[in-house]
Amino acid sequence: MRHGNFEHETDAPVNWRIIWHLIPYLRQYSGRVALTFALLLAAKGAILVVPFVMKYLVDSLDGATAESLATGVLFGLVLAYGAARFSNVLFAELRDTIFGRVTEQAMRQIALEVFRHVHSLDLEYHLNRRTGGLARDIERGTTGIGFLMRFFVFNIAPNLFEILMVSGILLFNYGASFALITLASVILYGLFSFRATEWRTQFVREVAEADSMSSTRAVDSLLNFETVKYFTNEEFEAQRYDSELASLEGARRRNRLSLFGLNGGQALIIAVAQTSMIGLAGWQVRDGSITLGDFILINQFMLQLFIPLGFLGFVFREMKGSLANIEKMFELLALRPGVVDAADARELQVSRGEVSFEGIGFSYNPQRAILKGVSFAMGAGEKVAVVGDSGSGKSTLVKLLFRFYDPQAGRILIDGQDIRGVSQRSLRRAIGIVPQDTVLFNDSILENVRYGDPGASDARVMEAIRLAHLDAFIANLPDGVETLVGERGLKLSGGERQRVSIARTILKRPPILVFDEATSSLDSKSERAILAALEEISQGHTSLVIAHRLSTVVDADRIFVLHNGEIAESGTHEELLSCAGLYAQLWSAQQKQREAGSPL
Ligand SMILES: Nc1ncnc2c1ncn2[C@@H]1O[C@H](COP(=O)(O)OP(=O)(O)O)[C@@H](O)[C@H]1O
Ligand SMILES: [Mg+2]
Repeated sequence: MRHGNFEHETDAPVNWRIIWHLIPYLRQYSGRVALTFALLLAAKGAILVVPFVMKYLVDSLDGATAESLATGVLFGLVLAYGAARFSNVLFAELRDTIFGRVTEQAMRQIALEVFRHVHSLDLEYHLNRRTGGLARDIERGTTGIGFLMRFFVFNIAPNLFEILMVSGILLFNYGASFALITLASVILYGLFSFRATEWRTQFVREVAEADSMSSTRAVDSLLNFETVKYFTNEEFEAQRYDSELASLEGARRRNRLSLFGLNGGQALIIAVAQTSMIGLAGWQVRDGSITLGDFILINQFMLQLFIPLGFLGFVFREMKGSLANIEKMFELLALRPGVVDAADARELQVSRGEVSFEGIGFSYNPQRAILKGVSFAMGAGEKVAVVGDSGSGKSTLVKLLFRFYDPQAGRILIDGQDIRGVSQRSLRRAIGIVPQDTVLFNDSILENVRYGDPGASDARVMEAIRLAHLDAFIANLPDGVETLVGERGLKLSGGERQRVSIARTILKRPPILVFDEATSSLDSKSERAILAALEEISQGHTSLVIAHRLSTVVDADRIFVLHNGEIAESGTHEELLSCAGLYAQLWSAQQKQREAGSPL
């Protein structure tokens, strides 16, 4: 997905079928849609009356004196003119106001749908996504949907209807020549607009892509602000951002120039048609075959004809643009997560909390196997440890247990149930984790802890904070539990973040607990305190402790040593020391370091 934005050819035709996606949203509000249509017809009706009123006004005024044209008639005609003009605008405004609600609600629904969908995608997607670009794609997508709804429904059909009506009126009243000019120009205009807009789509897409790219660059750069500062690379970052901005600028320029070509061509077609109609009408008035009022009427209708036509061109152009913008969002919606619930997925029933990994074979990438047949079991309420070198696949085991990925071989059972047969939601609710790196929400400490159980009372949250030994730290903070932790929790130290994470997990109180290097960023003193806390909360829970630092796991019921994708050794601390293998080597190396006083 990293290169997802460039997967398709930029000159691929726009997918008009996207429009069908809008139908369900419209159907929900069929009442409002019908009312809007009625208002639309009323507005069109009013505007078709105007030229006739004008004609009668001009014809009655032509050579008229006070006696021949009664004040009442003049007054009536003027009033009718005003009323028709005003009702046209009024009905059009009412239409937009009433329909606005449909668009707003559809935009809300779609934004929410996309948000839920993105959260439903698997870890692999999230590891590869580009946050800045994604946010822009969604933003452009929802705006595009709003635009499409407004314009597709209320402009294409009614404007075509108006054009047909006007051509009909001209044909009926003034013969074939006017109607022919009208139809010919409409057809020419339509064909030209269609072709030119198709051609322009590539430029619209180019702008959308450049826009997402620059946004990706900006967000990524800002997220790494600390690194930028450590390496004083502000100027380098600015230049990289500017090079993205430069391609956006270039894309916008090409887009603008292509728009000029389109608009210029359309204007030329309209001008030629208008000139020939005015010329024709002028000649006919001089010949006496039509009146001055007819001349005005023809002129009025002509103006009125080319307004919707111009509008149609605009709408068509914008619709194509919107469709190009929406594409990204629908591509996103079409993505399917790699891990999905089975059709007959049941709820996981945890009674004892036994977990077993059976012959797990797994690789992120076919060229490199991470786990090659790993089997081990955790009895109810046991504390089991997995140790191994960094990169040996310990965290991968946890990701498999959470079912972020499915293993290529073997299976994982919880109380005898294959985790592939239960819902992901029930599985993840049953397991609590203190991860290797804890990232926090930009909110207070209190709310970050409450995240473990959003419905928990303040008292329960405070209790969890106490159990995680966070209270002493919080007591020193001027704002106490209301202290804001900054984006991703960066205003706390690694150890403090980890304790927030422990408090969260305590609040969640799941039957199975996982600690993935949970004390790795703590000094020995805090580590002992945390270990005591972990000991307390894991009473009666099955727990999986993953550690590089062996002092964390000496008291485990069983220790598994992961090496080269396999379980190389297993046993209790004493057993493993006595067999003088990998574990014993690792232990003595760490003991020496400890004696030498170097921090572990
Ligand atoms: N999403 C991923 N895609 C590809 N490789 C990965 C991914 N996640 C981890 N790895 C690789 O898998 C190996 C095991 O990672 P991990 O389980 O995190 O190791 P550790 O034992 O240190 O916790 C590492 O070499 C890592 O680079
Ligand atoms: Mg790890």
